[in-house]
Amino acid sequence: MEVKKANGVIDWLDQRIAIKKVIEVLATKYWVPKNINFLWAMGVILLTLFTLLVVSGFFLLMYYKPDTKLAFDSVNDTIMREVAFGWLWRHIHAVAASMVFLIIYIHMFVAVYYGSYKRGREVIWIGGMLLFVVFSAEAFSGYMLPWGQMSFWAAAVITNLPSAIPGIGPDLVEWVRGNFVIADSTLTRFFMLHVCLLPIVILMLIALHFYTLRVPHVNNENGEEIDFEAEAKKYEEGKKKEAKVISFWPDFLSKDIFVVSVFMMLFFYLVCYHFNFAMDPINFEPANNMKTPAHIYPEWYFLWSYEVLRGFFFSADVGLIAFGIAQVVFLFLPWLDRSPIVAPAHKRPLFMIWFWVLILDLVVLTIFGKLPPEGINNQIGLVAAVGFLVWVFVALPVVTIMERKK
Ligand code: HEM
Repeated sequence: MEVKKANGVIDWLDQRIAIKKVIEVLATKYWVPKNINFLWAMGVILLTLFTLLVVSGFFLLMYYKPDTKLAFDSVNDTIMREVAFGWLWRHIHAVAASMVFLIIYIHMFVAVYYGSYKRGREVIWIGGMLLFVVFSAEAFSGYMLPWGQMSFWAAAVITNLPSAIPGIGPDLVEWVRGNFVIADSTLTRFFMLHVCLLPIVILMLIALHFYTLRVPHVNNENGEEIDFEAEAKKYEEGKKKEAKVISFWPDFLSKDIFVVSVFMMLFFYLVCYHFNFAMDPINFEPANNMKTPAHIYPEWYFLWSYEVLRGFFFSADVGLIAFGIAQVVFLFLPWLDRSPIVAPAHKRPLFMIWFWVLILDLVVLTIFGKLPPEGINNQIGLVAAVGFLVWVFVALPVVTIMERKK
């Protein structure tokens, strides 16, 4: 290999690691459809939020103590009161954790609305769903760390879920907890998951998610099938107006950065003035295994699946099975949807109704997941939970088969 005197850093790197080729593949010759709106910026917002979570997490990690005797004070006293700007990092971390789920849900349902999980995009969808499941585990393990009342009792409820499995259930609960009860060993293993194993898995899944976007490319507002090679050729020949694609960088990302900037204004407004929505008041009381809170509920983003669990109030086992199914049901969407049509829901009347009823049901589940399970709440919860499963498993195939026949 001949190495010449370089005329700049890029040239120096190019001679050694072909950096120009890398930039081409990842940015300047990575083609994105022109006809996509701001809803396609959610992926980059998610990436930004994940980065914020990692950076703020590093700062919190400098003072956090994973020990049942020290954890609560290390968060609520050391980080919140003693360390300069500790409160800011904690608020950034908590608000980002809540917002990441809001944006994940928007990102997911945008994909459902536009049919972006079909026609060769199934693996993008599966990678995304795996991200959702691992993010859920990440949020749950993080919630345990301040070792407040909600941390403790949420851990007690969730780690007890495997007990319903016949035969091995009780042993499995003990194995997950590392003890007969929720104890120091439980906190330290969930700490390991939160700061080490799960972030590594998330990083790998994000890489997979991005890779899987390369071949089918992102969908567009009309579900139009674009010949990316032909359109890219037009773009490169200078016919930029005519071409249906633009480059990821500088064209697409500059627009995305604008949307991310607007989002960041909202984000820091929430961090500074409304951070409370991301923290439960009951969790400012230290964990106490002798005092069960009157009403145990998860953060808002888990309320819908929690209500699917609770909805079957007459049988914990049925509730548990329904809960397990609810966690992964969307994974099967590309196969439950029997129609090959890739188009926005507003151009698919039957599917449009299905979509908005699903969203309504999820909102009802979320609201009733927060209310105490008594009186009429139980009946509404049951109807919404059964409705959810029927709507996804039965109504979607029926609606999309009918759509195909039209
Ligand atoms: C931290 C988590 C995630 C990150 C960083 C991420 C990132 C991205 C990015 C950058 C894109 C391309 C642009 C866009 O459509 O926004 C994308 C597309 C996509 N993502 Fe995600 N995503 C995440 C989670 C998810 C989840 C939970 C799902 C669904 C279960 C999902 C499903 C999809 C699909 C189907 C597309 C293709 C959209 C299209 O073709 O129009 N992603 N993602």
